[in-house]
Amino acid sequence: MLKGLLYLVLIIVLVGAAAGAYHLFQVAERNKQALKPYQGPRQVYQSDLGKVLVIYYSLTGHTRAIADQIAALTQADTYEIKTAQPLDLGWFYLNVKKQLKTKQYPQLVQNTPDLSQYDVIFVGSPVWWYTVSTPVLSFLQQTDFMGKKVVPFSTQGSNFGRFFDVFQQEARHAVLQQGESFNNVNASYDDAVHNKIVDWLRRLK
Ligand SMILES: Cc1cc2nc3c(=O)[nH]c(=O)nc-3n(C[C@H](O)[C@H](O)[C@H](O)COP(=O)(O)O)c2cc1C
Repeated sequence: MLKGLLYLVLIIVLVGAAAGAYHLFQVAERNKQALKPYQGPRQVYQSDLGKVLVIYYSLTGHTRAIADQIAALTQADTYEIKTAQPLDLGWFYLNVKKQLKTKQYPQLVQNTPDLSQYDVIFVGSPVWWYTVSTPVLSFLQQTDFMGKKVVPFSTQGSNFGRFFDVFQQEARHAVLQQGESFNNVNASYDDAVHNKIVDWLRRLK
């Protein structure tokens, strides 16, 4: 009887793991397909966007990598949003969900740059629970963009959900430009990601 139960649990665990692995495989395939139009030689880009600031938050480096590429292509200054206290990673997903539900976002290190000197301000965030990450929501809560051109961008596993709608609602007095989202892919897609960024920058006015 006990043996039978153990076998059942084992089968459930194995089926769950196989389904999870298959899902991840499908996501990776979809993400690669989405980059197909951008394959080919690395595009050269000459920025005419004026003085640019790239603001971003990044927990695990994906958003920072895109922010650094935008900054390199546009000769921009960068500003990293940092939480005043390290985030509690113990029950991280649940904590974030609670922050989103209660709108109690983490406190930030207060050294915000002077936005008035910039022509265009990019703001990048990871997608957390299909929306803007809570440190960036915190930043948006305390920021008035004063009629500046603001360009949002996201990085995510595969689904940005309501990210751009929420960003638009929260970015006070921003003149929003066309945002872009970047699914996580491995380093062999670096050139395609670069070309996707260039294609997007060219479309910005
Ligand atoms: C709390 C949490 C929630 C997440 N929710 C989503 C999501 O809704 N959709 C998605 O595609 N990826 C989601 N992800 C994955 C991240 O968006 C993705 O790994 C992102 O590129 C991380 O950026 P970073 O490395 O700059 O922190 C989530 C990650 C975390 C930690």
